[in-house]
Amino acid sequence: MSKQEGGRDSFTNKFGVIAAAAGSAIGLGNIWRFPYVAGENGGGAFLLLYLLFILAIGVPVMLSELLIGRKAQLNIFGAFRKLAPGSYWPLVGMMGVGAAFMILSFYAVVAGWTLEYTFYAIGNQFAGESPEGIKAIFDELTTASWRPVVFMLLFMALSAFIVRSGVQKGIERYTKILMPLLLVILLGLIFRSLSLDGAMAGVDFLFRPDFSKVDTNTILEALGQAFFSLSLGMGVMATYGSYIKKKESLGKTAISVSLTDTFIAILAGLAIFPAVFSFGLEPGQGPGLVFITLPGIFNQMAGGYYFAIFFFVLLVIAALTSSISLLEVVVAYFVEELKMKRSTATWLAAGVMSALGVVCALNGAVFDFFDRTSSNILLPLGGLLIVLFVGWFLGKQVVRDELEADGRAAFYFRLFVPVIRVLAPIAIALVFLNGLGLLRF
Ligand code: PFF
Repeated sequence: MSKQEGGRDSFTNKFGVIAAAAGSAIGLGNIWRFPYVAGENGGGAFLLLYLLFILAIGVPVMLSELLIGRKAQLNIFGAFRKLAPGSYWPLVGMMGVGAAFMILSFYAVVAGWTLEYTFYAIGNQFAGESPEGIKAIFDELTTASWRPVVFMLLFMALSAFIVRSGVQKGIERYTKILMPLLLVILLGLIFRSLSLDGAMAGVDFLFRPDFSKVDTNTILEALGQAFFSLSLGMGVMATYGSYIKKKESLGKTAISVSLTDTFIAILAGLAIFPAVFSFGLEPGQGPGLVFITLPGIFNQMAGGYYFAIFFFVLLVIAALTSSISLLEVVVAYFVEELKMKRSTATWLAAGVMSALGVVCALNGAVFDFFDRTSSNILLPLGGLLIVLFVGWFLGKQVVRDELEADGRAAFYFRLFVPVIRVLAPIAIALVFLNGLGLLRF
């Protein structure tokens, strides 16, 4: 049986659910952002904090989202409309749809860079370039020029092509192939990176807890990163949750997806830092780490031509499986609320996002505005409202019934309720206020 009651599309099995949801979570946030943020914030110390937040807050928030979606069997707006009729709650869903537009508009630009870099790598265009030369290539990408626009559009078309085919025949089908492929490529890269001379300094950098670098800002940074990395706060997990069959355990899904996401972030660090240290380069490069430092390393490394291709293909895959989840939030809304055909909805959503993406690609200020507004305001605010909704509005029995819909006792229920009622809202509110600049420690 592939359809749910009522003929709604759904994921076929557990692996399909995990591949899709982990595909959303694992993205540029893991492979590009996590390593350098961890590096700047005390390595192993940041990792410990991050792990704590993933388990104590990320998992409960993800579970809340999955629960809303599966209970309502609808898109994020429809879910709130159905579960809280006649209230203002559907506005939270509306905010999620808006956030999806914003995030995908700038995310697709960065994804376009990864696609463009893949072609450069195949064409061996980094060969013989000095570090300054590689920097010039990257600078050209990030300033107004037509090429990033073309690659962004190409990337958006690729995402739309997958989403248009449906949940099972599109999203599940492709993530089931792409996610294992991502893991294989990553393991290959780690193997190469660790075999370089002096690689252990990189491992040390990632894992040694340097508590002197930890301050309140690090703590907030870790929580913010956990949120973005797990794709929380805007309805991706609720939308995917609405495609999960009742016989699957939501608790296990939330835990598996969160741990897989964290595992991949650590693996990305293990692929990148040993190579960076082995070539005596600076680890704290920020955005340039992946786009400037690494191509320089591949240039000098034996077999670097192939490893460069693998690495950028890895980034494209990671970005693609996240983008399709963002697109699906909007498509599900268009199809179910505005009664559009799936293909019309997909092309319309991708079209509008592309138009916004062109603006982001050409205008750095708009890019930054979209990035900051979504990460610092919309995601935490959405996450806060989602846990408050599940914790205080839905009612304990409703929550418990949904968690136990697979016929097994949800032993974690007693812990889950106080966490989403009190702990998670306080923690998220702190990050939110900090992001807004209303609270400075
Ligand atoms: N989780 C993705 C990443 O780590 O790259 C990014 C993302 C996807 C954030 C979807 C938010 C979202 F709703």
